[in-house]
Amino acid sequence: MSAYTITYIKNENKKEKPDFDNLAFGKYFTDHMFILDYSEQKEWHNARIVPYKPLQLDPAAIVFHYGQTVFEGLKAYKTKSGDIQLFRPNKNMERLNRSNERMCIPEIDEEFAIEAIKNLVEIDKDWVPDAPGTSLYIRPFIISTEPYLGVSPSSTYQFIIILSPVGAYYEEGINPVRIAVENEFVRAVKGGTGEAKTAGNYASSLKAQEMVSNKGYAQVLWLDGIEKKYIEEVGSMNVFFVINDEVITPELNGSILNGVTRNSVITLLNHWNIPVKERKITMEEIYEYAQNGELKEAFGAGTAAVISPIGELSWNDKKIEINDGKTGKISFDLYETLTGIQYGRDEDIFDWIVKV
Ligand code: COI
Repeated sequence: MSAYTITYIKNENKKEKPDFDNLAFGKYFTDHMFILDYSEQKEWHNARIVPYKPLQLDPAAIVFHYGQTVFEGLKAYKTKSGDIQLFRPNKNMERLNRSNERMCIPEIDEEFAIEAIKNLVEIDKDWVPDAPGTSLYIRPFIISTEPYLGVSPSSTYQFIIILSPVGAYYEEGINPVRIAVENEFVRAVKGGTGEAKTAGNYASSLKAQEMVSNKGYAQVLWLDGIEKKYIEEVGSMNVFFVINDEVITPELNGSILNGVTRNSVITLLNHWNIPVKERKITMEEIYEYAQNGELKEAFGAGTAAVISPIGELSWNDKKIEINDGKTGKISFDLYETLTGIQYGRDEDIFDWIVKV
């Protein structure tokens, strides 16, 4: 059977839906999932949508031991008229293949993966929430399934897509988050896997995250892995700083994730004629700018986080309060415009929307 035929087994035991007004992030999963296998014959095959259930894997599967796995994150949004639409899914699938390349995982057919997402979302469309700020989070991922304890690329894989109705990623919602700059641990270095969306990057961030969350910080801001000087990213989002009338974001350097929301923010700022620079930027500079009253706003951008204003940065023993801990104009306008396009309130002038 060709990979391009998707078989469907309906879930006859549908779950009770959660309260769409109180979803938080990533806690609930829909009735179905998509699976595609990769065989030793080196082909993707057996595309199917089946009831959501635990996977059965050999305990020796490579993914459990050596983390050969990649994932993506995108969302489906319900418009006022009840249509369901995706935001730039082609960008996520392109990135999935870039992550695959880095992790020695076979390429997937991007067009087909988007078709699979559309099919699955259509089947579980009752799970797309419509409360303000909610959406259906789509998590495509690939795991290496060959049972083998030697360190080498797997000969078999599964490409799986699951869906989760979500609210805001941070408890704070659109309100500013407090972020601690990480000085001890590092997330990634150039030449490592920082640019790939792979589990290890997230596993290695947990220790630092745990240490700061005890102090009331939502996340850590990572510095470069060599000099611990240049700002990189937050892990769940890329970062932007408004310095006077200009917006600055760390340039992509091989260890920073190439975010779809990051790219969309840069496109919007260019469109509004707000100067935006992708360049190396240090925490020393940010501190100086803050001292001189030139740091006007800071915010993170990511699929899960959307636009998340940063109200406070803690760095060594210093606390940098930003815009009196309030959401700034540029952060607010970006949030409104991005979500306006995503939820179909605003015209899709950049051709970012794909209808389900
Ligand atoms: C996303 O924003 O989709 C991500 O994958 C980040 C993750 C930490 C939730």
